[in-house]
Amino acid sequence: MRDLPQTKSPQASAVETRYIVMPQHANDYGIAFGGTIMAWIDMIAAMVAQRHCECEVVTVSTDKITFLAPIQIGEHVVLKGCVNYVGRTSMEVGVQVTRENPYTGESVRATTAYLTFVGIDRNKHPTPIPALLPQTPDERRRFENARLRMESRKELLRKLKPPTLTSDPLTT
Ligand SMILES: CC(C)(COP(=O)(O)OP(=O)(O)OC[C@H]1O[C@@H](n2cnc3c(N)ncnc32)[C@H](O)[C@@H]1OP(=O)(O)O)[C@@H](O)C(=O)NCCC(=O)NCCS
Repeated sequence: MRDLPQTKSPQASAVETRYIVMPQHANDYGIAFGGTIMAWIDMIAAMVAQRHCECEVVTVSTDKITFLAPIQIGEHVVLKGCVNYVGRTSMEVGVQVTRENPYTGESVRATTAYLTFVGIDRNKHPTPIPALLPQTPDERRRFENARLRMESRKELLRKLKPPTLTSDPLTT
């Protein structure tokens, strides 16, 4: 196994993939089922995270996902993912999803998602991962925005009171 680099650029682990929405991916209104899109988002984001860390990763959280435009059966779903920000053992991966008409090439933003992954070692414990070296103006903007989101997630987690199993059966 090669030595893990200390820093990596977002481009080094970026992934782009696409699917065709088939009938088995749709709900009973004939548009892509949200759960299928979420699974594709988690899948591409995990590939990005694995490529950055060069180790096993687990999803620890997903931010709110808003579906901005429906995707019809037969349309292409184009997913682009890259690492936006890296902490010590965790990283934020951003995934942009667009729907594309394969005949006209018309492309519409369908959703954007931010997921946090943690690199884990062979004992399944969090392990340090390479730092991120944003290089382009867009990469620097995404890095700064993701840093703010990461801080606000940590702040929220500090403020939320954990449930006790005995006092709250819903454990929300
Ligand atoms: C992810 C996991 C290993 C973290 O373990 P942990 O004991 O909470 O570890 P730590 O408290 O040391 O946190 C590790 C990192 O995760 C981050 N983290 C922990 N909880 C988080 C949350 N809810 N949201 C965002 N980041 C979080 C921490 O900030 C830390 O980041 P840093 O090292 O970059 O500062 C553990 O929670 C786990 O195994 N969860 C289940 C994952 C899973 O099964 N996913 C679904 C299938 S892939």
